[in-house]
Amino acid sequence: MEPVEAPAFAEKNPIVTVQQHILREQRRFPGASGEFSFLLSGITLATKMIAARVRRAGLTDTFGAEGGMNVQGEVQQKLDVYANQAMMHCLAVRESVAVLASEENEQPQIVDEGNPNSHYVVVFDPLDGSSNIDVNVSVGTTFSILKRADGATPDGGHEADVLQTGAKQVAAGYVMYGSSVMLVYTCGHGVHGFTLDPAIGAFVLSHEYIRIPKQGKYYSVNESHFESFPEPYQKFLTRIRSGELGQQYSSRYIGSMVADFHRTLLKGGIFLYPPTASNPEGKLRLLYEANPIAFITEQAGGVATDGEHRILDKVPSSIHERTSLVVGGQVEAAEFARCW
Ligand code: AHG
Ligand code: MN
Ligand code: MN
Repeated sequence: MEPVEAPAFAEKNPIVTVQQHILREQRRFPGASGEFSFLLSGITLATKMIAARVRRAGLTDTFGAEGGMNVQGEVQQKLDVYANQAMMHCLAVRESVAVLASEENEQPQIVDEGNPNSHYVVVFDPLDGSSNIDVNVSVGTTFSILKRADGATPDGGHEADVLQTGAKQVAAGYVMYGSSVMLVYTCGHGVHGFTLDPAIGAFVLSHEYIRIPKQGKYYSVNESHFESFPEPYQKFLTRIRSGELGQQYSSRYIGSMVADFHRTLLKGGIFLYPPTASNPEGKLRLLYEANPIAFITEQAGGVATDGEHRILDKVPSSIHERTSLVVGGQVEAAEFARCW
């Protein structure tokens, strides 16, 4: 039987789905079974469900507040609740998942207590940018995947599984529900982007080995808090606004971290959420917002700190703890560091 020749077009632009990409990546991990790609398929399934709900939000009873307050003390939007249910359901049925921790749940959910095949912890923000849902602005889902803590027993405590430094992440990523739906992930070998093709319902490779430009043209911060930013942030913003970084910058702020970061990743520049009077520790959550974004940033050749310290080195003390966040390309990050 003669080998079937790949059709000519396949040589130039093969259709690579995110599952195929993960399986190809997994060949780098000796002994890794398909459990990781099956886990990731839980995330792709859930985020396709969320994307479908986001796309029709105005036509179904999806806009607006659910009425409850989440553990953050924020009014839960209906889509927050739906996205959380989708992620929890699709991941809990993956045998390899031991623990799930969500921005929307006070405590982690223990899945399949005591199952020796449950190796992974998934920490996530099911819907990032909730304040933008009702006005049709891009929102996202972020996720961070860890192995269970060393020495953790199948029925051992789960706090240690969740409270690991970002440097322990085995994979991280986000899905952005924007003009197109994109999944961006890393498992430590570069950053790769997949665009959801609605015609076939698959995330297809569209951006392989994304690198953040050394210098970009945008800075991104909620300027309304400027007066309460610590002095080094004010000094940096004054410098970048006055062209002292060798070029004129534009200001862009969407108010959804995933969208503000995605632009920074592709176009370069810097995104900052500094300490403010209302959030002196910073507003963004370390485990499921800053850590996945920081892993991606560093894998793409950028820098991610809390202003002073590398995000991935921070030792979390509680699941929902907040941090300040500064992520960007090499030039802006170096200029920022010089302001301390
Ligand atoms: P979430 O919707 O998950 O609570 O996250 C919102 C976050 C983040 O997405 C964004 O960068 C930040 O809140 C915006 O905060 P401000 O509205 O204070 O600028
Ligand atoms: Mn968020
Ligand atoms: Mn959220």
